[in-house]
Order: sequence, then C-alpha cells, then structure tokens
Amino acid sequence: MRTACIILAGGAGKRMKSERPKVLAEVLCKPMLGWVLDAAEKFGFDEISVVTGYKAELTAEYVSSRGGSVTICHQAEQKGTGDAVRSAMEVIQRSDAVCVLNGDAPFVDADTIRASLELHRSTGSGVTVITAELESPLGYGRIIRTNGEFTAIREQKDCSPEEAGICEVNSGAYWFDAKKLSEALPKLSTNNAAGEYYLTDCVEMMQRRSAYTSPNPDIVLGANTRSALLELNRLARLKKLSQLMDEGVSFITTDGVIIGADVRIGCDTTILPNTVILGSTTIGRGCVIGANSHIENCVIGGNVQLNNVQAYDSVVEDDVKIGPFAQLRPGTTIRKGVKIGDFVEIKNSDIGVNTAVAHLTYVGDSDVGRGVNFGCGCVTANYDGINKFRTKIGDHAFIGCNTNLIAPVEVGENATTAAGSTITKNVPANSLAVERGQVRVIENWSKNALRKKK
Ligand code: UD1
Ligand code: CA
Repeated sequence: MRTACIILAGGAGKRMKSERPKVLAEVLCKPMLGWVLDAAEKFGFDEISVVTGYKAELTAEYVSSRGGSVTICHQAEQKGTGDAVRSAMEVIQRSDAVCVLNGDAPFVDADTIRASLELHRSTGSGVTVITAELESPLGYGRIIRTNGEFTAIREQKDCSPEEAGICEVNSGAYWFDAKKLSEALPKLSTNNAAGEYYLTDCVEMMQRRSAYTSPNPDIVLGANTRSALLELNRLARLKKLSQLMDEGVSFITTDGVIIGADVRIGCDTTILPNTVILGSTTIGRGCVIGANSHIENCVIGGNVQLNNVQAYDSVVEDDVKIGPFAQLRPGTTIRKGVKIGDFVEIKNSDIGVNTAVAHLTYVGDSDVGRGVNFGCGCVTANYDGINKFRTKIGDHAFIGCNTNLIAPVEVGENATTAAGSTITKNVPANSLAVERGQVRVIENWSKNALRKKK
C-alpha cells in the first residue's frame, strides 16, 4: 500500500497580520511547517508533498533548505482547504492512502498518524479524522455525531448554536482512501459561510467514516492568530523543559530559558536564566550553561562552562570554560581544556588543546596549536578588504599582549611575539619576533610647566 502525505501550507493566514506565510510562523524558533514535516518524515510516508500558495516562494525555499525529498504542489488561488488538496491530485492518483495534515497544527506526531492509520485500515473507512475534545473549541470544525456515529464536520462559521456547543473538534489531520478522495474532491462546492471549498465536506460524501480521538488534546492545536501562536510556544516550551528535567537536566529557575525541541542535553547539566539553546545543538553532561547565553547548532562536550556566551555552528570539546561576554562564530572548534575569557571573539578557527585566550582578543580564520597563550588585546588581521587569509600558530607559542598578526602568517612552535608587535612575516619556531620603535626618553618634560607658560 503506497502512502502519501499532503501538507496544506498555502493559506495567507490573514489573522496573523504577517508578510510571510502563516506556516512559517515559529514555535520554539522552528516554523510550524517544520514541526509537521518532522512528524511526517518520522512516520515514513512513501511520498510527502507540501501545497504552497500565498508567498509560495518563501515556503518552497524553507522546504528545500531542510533537504529531504518533498514534492511541492502549487495552489494558484487560495480557495479553501478542499481546493488546496485538489492541487495535489497527481500525488493522490499515485497513492493508495493519503494523509492530509494542516501546516499550521505543529503538534501532530508520528504515533498519532500511525494509530489513526490502523483504525482507518481496520474499519475500511473512506476517511478517518483525527479529533480531540477541547475545553474551548472555538474556531475549530466540530465533529457531528448522529446517534453516536460520526457523520460530518461543521465549520465554526456554519454551526448552529447547538453545534457550537460540541467540544470534539477536527484537528485538520485525516487519512483518506486515495480513490474515494479523488472522486469526492470535484464534487465540493462553495455553498457555505466562508464561500470556500471545504475539505471537511468530503466527510459526508464517504460511505464509511471514522474518528480517531486522540487521548492528548494538545496534538490538535493550531494557530490562526499571534495569541494562539504564543499559546503553542508556551505549551511546547514547558513540554521540552519537563522532558529535559526527566532526563536529569537542572534549572534553578526557568525564567527566560528557551530550548528548541531538537536540542539534546546530558544529565547533571544546569541551565541558568536567560539562556536560549536552539537548532540541532547537543550539550554533554555536567555543564553549566548561562546565564544570558545563546547557543545555536553547536556540539558542546561535557564539563563545559559557558557564561554569557553567544555561540553559533561551533564545536566545543570537554572541560572548556568560556566567558563572560564571548562569541563563537560559525566554523569554530574549541578543543579540550581551552579557556576563553571576556570580550573574545573567535570565528572559523581551530583552537588547540589547553590554549588560553583570556581577554579582549579577536581570532579569525586561524589554526592555533595546543598550549598557546594569547595576551590581552591580540588581533588576527584576516581580511585585507578583498580577501580573507589564515593565521597559523604552532604549539606552545606565546602571543604577547596587543600583537597584530597580519594574515597570511605563521608563528612557529614555542615562538614568542613581543607585546605591541605587528607581525607581517612568518616567525620561526623557538624565536622571538619584536616589531617596535626605539623608546626615546625626553627628560624634564613637565606638562604642567608647559601649560603655565602658555
Ligand atoms: C481547518 C478545518 C477545521 C479544523 C482546523 C484545524 C477546513 C474547512 N476547516 O480550519 O475543521 O478544525 O483546520 O486547525 O478545512 N490552506 C491552503 N489553501 C487554502 C486555505 C488553507 O493551503 O486555500 C492551508 C492553510 O495554510 C493551513 C491549512 O490549510 O495550513 C488550514 O487552513 P485554515 O484556513 O487555517 O483552516 P481553519 O480555519 O483553521
Ligand atoms: Ca488553521
């Protein structure tokens, strides 16, 4: 049996008041569409397709930035969810069972998709709708049951006052028999309060229908407004924090702590306030991260301390101490035992084992050996205004305070640069490079005496 997933992502989402497609609005800094794609990829469909419409190029760009194989179907005009599914007719025709998901309902998961497929198959239904009971069902399509049997979905706008009192709602996620769906779609009309082609009207056209009621009501939640988006963020954030606590991560307070859904953190690590950890970051055991840190797409080892650190697309090995007020920019590797102090920026560089970069230093495009010491205020001048060049520093070199290293340049093993030197030539191993004017001392030079004269 060939399965396909069609993710509806074409709507403008007017109520969001955004210049971007609604499905790109983020929950824990990941677009809602990304959450849905993650669930679909985890389930393992034979084909996944995304229906784009409003600002389609932005949605398609996001989908391709994730990699993976996804078919894009374009809906030229946004005439409703039924019309959106129609734009994916080719996908339906080459499948046996089709799962439709809303791109603005991020919490649907692979287990729910699997459990609802089992019900769908065992009942031989034309459609199986994933539903849940909500305390406040306002805005959702209601599940209409006649003598207990599921018969239709009624949109909020079309509900009678009695129907509006129903708390079981449509999640916007369904399994369809592909053949029956392709027969039903052309029969949809716009004869409803919104004047749209409702996908939900297909339900009544099927001979057999089932409702899979999710035990976890959160999985149905969607966001049509900024305040609904805030609520999804709140729920996702708390869920992630409690999962991490179950896994042995400590928080003294969770104030200002935001941790992305895909982040992994080892036991006995403590996260301090105002710390944001995002993307594909993994952090080892026994670390202290924060306060006031922002870590994105990094691999951090064990026993690492990051205090007031910003780090992006970088690797930090075990037993490293960084901060306060330091930044690691993309392409950086910090090896075991390194110490990085205040006001240091490292970019696209490899900093060797046990090296110290204690204060006020910029290291860019550099390969630094082990046991190197940087004095205060060193700068690698890696950019001549046109091109960027690398700096190489051998093991146990000593870079004196306020050294400028004009790349491309190499400092050999055990070499020293004298404080205040601007190094434009390679420095051989075991040597001292000094670049300074002679000191002139002019005696009897009293500023106060000179001023009095004036
Ligand atoms: C829809 C369901 C409702 C359900 C709710 C769950 C319909 C008619 N109603 O309502 O029963 O309770 O989802 O969240 O289906 N889209 C397109 N093209 C369009 C219109 C929408 O691709 O022409 C996409 C949107 O981008 C969105 C999804 O379809 O991702 C759902 O559309 P939306 O307008 O948000 O539907 P709801 O009113 O929330
Ligand atoms: Ca919606």
